[in-house]
Amino acid sequence: MIRPESSIKAILAGSPGQRVTARGWVKTRRDSKSVHFLQLSDGSCFADLQIVIDDGVIPAETLARISTGACIEASGTLVESAGGGQSIELKADGILVHGEADTTTYPLQKKGHSMEFLRDIAHLRSRSNTFGAVFRVRSALSFAIHQFFQKRGFVYLHAPIVTTSDCEGAGAMFGVSTLDLMNLPRTDEGEVDYSQDFFGKRASLTVSGQLEAECFALAFSNVYTFGPTFRAENSNTPRHLAEFWMIEPEMAFCDLDGNRALAEEFLKEIIAFVLDHCAADLEFFNKRIDGTVLETLEHVAASDFEHVTYTEAIRILERAGRDWEFPVHWGVDLQSEHERFLTEETFKKPVVVTDYPREIKAFYMRLNDDEKTVRAMDVLAPRIGEIIGGSQREERHDVLLDKIRAQHLPEEHYWWYLELRKYGSAPHAGFGLGLERMMMYITGMKNIRDVIPFPRTPGSAEF
Ligand code: 4AD
Ligand code: MG
Repeated sequence: MIRPESSIKAILAGSPGQRVTARGWVKTRRDSKSVHFLQLSDGSCFADLQIVIDDGVIPAETLARISTGACIEASGTLVESAGGGQSIELKADGILVHGEADTTTYPLQKKGHSMEFLRDIAHLRSRSNTFGAVFRVRSALSFAIHQFFQKRGFVYLHAPIVTTSDCEGAGAMFGVSTLDLMNLPRTDEGEVDYSQDFFGKRASLTVSGQLEAECFALAFSNVYTFGPTFRAENSNTPRHLAEFWMIEPEMAFCDLDGNRALAEEFLKEIIAFVLDHCAADLEFFNKRIDGTVLETLEHVAASDFEHVTYTEAIRILERAGRDWEFPVHWGVDLQSEHERFLTEETFKKPVVVTDYPREIKAFYMRLNDDEKTVRAMDVLAPRIGEIIGGSQREERHDVLLDKIRAQHLPEEHYWWYLELRKYGSAPHAGFGLGLERMMMYITGMKNIRDVIPFPRTPGSAEF
């Protein structure tokens, strides 16, 4: 029987004299005349376990099979460590080799590899220090997110992945079809006849679970989704993925101010959790990836976010005296350079921008009395730009219908969404946090492809 108590994390918390068996992958091997040293990792914690093998204790044939990348099982006694760097090590008297690793071809060596190189070996990169830390933090962060909402009584909703409505109204969706591409059925007008497709109409992978979350919020009051979402936009940037994970709380009886307050509390609490639970991993990021990570996180967890309206933000940007790549005037969408200026240079902390022009935001956002702006909010974070997008929702049936028509969206797709406004409508609001953007913020990792296990981007879905 193999029990989780025998993880290296548990072994490292043990005391000298204990007999243990450690299982894992060899990171490095070092030999002197009379002793062999192995660094063993099983991913359970940042630290490796040092295995010490006195010469002659293990058969030479077994020793010869142990190299970087091999999977082994080492039994022996814990002893106080003589060398620096660790307090305890395992003096082995028995070794079982589960799987050798050919030293001439094993791609992960002790020398540092570039992130680009590691991306090409995504099936092995999680054995490296960096990706070990990334994915332990990702797991802890996910737990913290669930805990945040569960503690507050939010109901977890599994929103569908396949959908026939476009939440963001932007059209950047992946089609889902079983039609034969070589032999497409056509309508009399020559269009593809989706009525013959699997779902009887055109279907896609969802860009957001929000519309479904609204149905549930108008039954359970407070709900959240946490699942994969898909965007077929061709943006090859360090901040965009074609498949990413989004957390979308949706609250009935909540307005934009309540939404903003929850978003701030949410970000601070999940950051505090990761600071508390992933100290060794964060220290690594701070030392090796970005020296400002710890300071930034501690600062954010302790200070208030800034709040400006879009109109105020435009004024700040117009007066900045910058030569913007994308010129600024009231009505334009904020680009990455503008978002980063506001959060990195003007305020030096997360900023919530609210009340954007209606033309640049999705149809479901509540129209303000000025009829020019909507109750939108974006949370911008230093280094990342937009990390959260959200809004108070348009709960007035006729106003919503006007907005759907004004944006030339197919009205018939939204009949059920409109009916929510006919039967017991309520003021409600919500937001979406991109999990990978949050991961970038927490770890200091520079490319979004390096905080998701197997990234999907234009031209790339190998693993
Ligand atoms: O601003 P977005 O598009 O908002 C929505 O989808 C709303 N339905 C959310 C809601 O109100 N319930 O996306 C929300 C967040 C962004 O702020 C960003 O963090 C992340 O999702 N995001 C992406 N992350 C990685 N790659 C992409 N292509 C992303 N697009 C959005
Ligand atoms: Mg957005």
